[in-house]
Amino acid sequence: MLVPHRNFNLINEIRDSDIFAVTYPKSGTIWMQQILTPIEAKGDVTPNTEHLNAQRVPWIELIGSEKEFNATPSTRLWVTHLQYKFMPLAVRQKRGKVIYVARNPKDVLVSYYHFHKYAAMLEMPKDFNDFFEKFMEGKVFGNCWFEHIKTWYANRDNMNFLYITYEEMIKDLRSMVERMCRFLGKDLTEEQMASVVEHSTLRTMKQNPQANYKTVPDSLLDHKGTFMRKGMHVTPWTIGDWKNHFTVAQSERFDSVFQEKMRDLPLSFTWDIN
Ligand code: A3P
Repeated sequence: MLVPHRNFNLINEIRDSDIFAVTYPKSGTIWMQQILTPIEAKGDVTPNTEHLNAQRVPWIELIGSEKEFNATPSTRLWVTHLQYKFMPLAVRQKRGKVIYVARNPKDVLVSYYHFHKYAAMLEMPKDFNDFFEKFMEGKVFGNCWFEHIKTWYANRDNMNFLYITYEEMIKDLRSMVERMCRFLGKDLTEEQMASVVEHSTLRTMKQNPQANYKTVPDSLLDHKGTFMRKGMHVTPWTIGDWKNHFTVAQSERFDSVFQEKMRDLPLSFTWDIN
């Protein structure tokens, strides 16, 4: 399991060129790992087929030592599920750049439920209802979804911060890659841009073993399940799958908790919560 094993506030060797993709689990993390490398490599997708996501865009939670962190050459691409308060202080003082990807939490919950069923390092849920309760209480790895998005978004002015959603990426991947490039100050040619987009579709990623954990040992992931749960169909299957899982009562309860917890957040969500 990805467990923060040290105080990341101590890591202050953050460079202005550092790029952090921040997600709550199941919100498009691996997708960001897939996209950021070829953006940085000006459309070259070779590293994506030759190296694991976690080698190209490592988890800061899993960095072995501060020395290792500091020794990594620029441009450093990082990914993390950490809650805001655990981020290195320098990131919270505008060093580096942060791209936060949010996803409809109901779909996050469903995706996470299925992931628990085949990820050996996570506790097998008794059933969907059991997992629903744990998620609502934040008793899952990654803690509380509501806290995660609230604290990251509320502190956006302390960082160089871009907020995007999984749903926007599904609807128009090209525009979102362009937006990321503008934010990161990367000027890609038409051909380079097309290469990034083509290699970041669900269809391409499903066929790339490096992109969907196919090389992770069976002891960690039961490969009878699949990381990219859905087939080649992108919409509507990865948006709104919660409707196939939630009862009406669960949906209504979720909506009311959502309204309550998100009340003070000056953010209009682009996903269809209902
Ligand atoms: P589902 O379980 O709903 O299929 P993370 O990487 O944060 O764990 O998120 C995993 C989710 O992102 C999975 O959702 C997976 O299918 C989806 N995903 C990964 N790459 C994608 C892509 N290129 N297009 C659409 N969805 C993608």
